[in-house]
Amino acid sequence: MEKIKVLFVCLGNICRSPMAEGLFMHLVREAGLEDRFEIDSAGTSGYHEGELADRRMRETATSHGVRLTSRSRMFLEQDLHDFHYVVAMDSSNQRNILNLKKPGVDYPASVLMMRGFDPQPDSPDVPDPYYGGRNGFENVYDILLRSNERFLQHLRETHGL
Ligand code: 4NP
Repeated sequence: MEKIKVLFVCLGNICRSPMAEGLFMHLVREAGLEDRFEIDSAGTSGYHEGELADRRMRETATSHGVRLTSRSRMFLEQDLHDFHYVVAMDSSNQRNILNLKKPGVDYPASVLMMRGFDPQPDSPDVPDPYYGGRNGFENVYDILLRSNERFLQHLRETHGL
């Protein structure tokens, strides 16, 4: 059976989307579904190409038993062909993703907002923690845990897993 391909996207691909990728992978593994998914992340900017996730995000992840190992890469139009689900961290990311679509081309990817799955969506966006303090990273972890639990539940129902 074809794998379900999921791509998480933010601006730099060093804070929010690597955390979303690592957490979603963690939840998928806990559910014993790792062979059913292909999971990746990317950034709409290429500012941090090749870098590991921000140290503060990695430390927050580690403190919750989640390892972040991915390296930053830029989001490409091709990703809209290669993935089934493209999950944007904020509305600016979503706009940048949709702007890459060429008129008349049929793209298989569903472009979704991460907080569309948050049971406590006080904002439509996962806030960018890059220029803030430590608690911003903890807040991102909390939002992404809640949202990804629901997102995985949604995919399990949609795909009968
Ligand atoms: P991210 O956070 O989009 O969650 O990875 C950012 C990281 C770096 C920058 C902006 C946002 N930056 O401008 O360098």
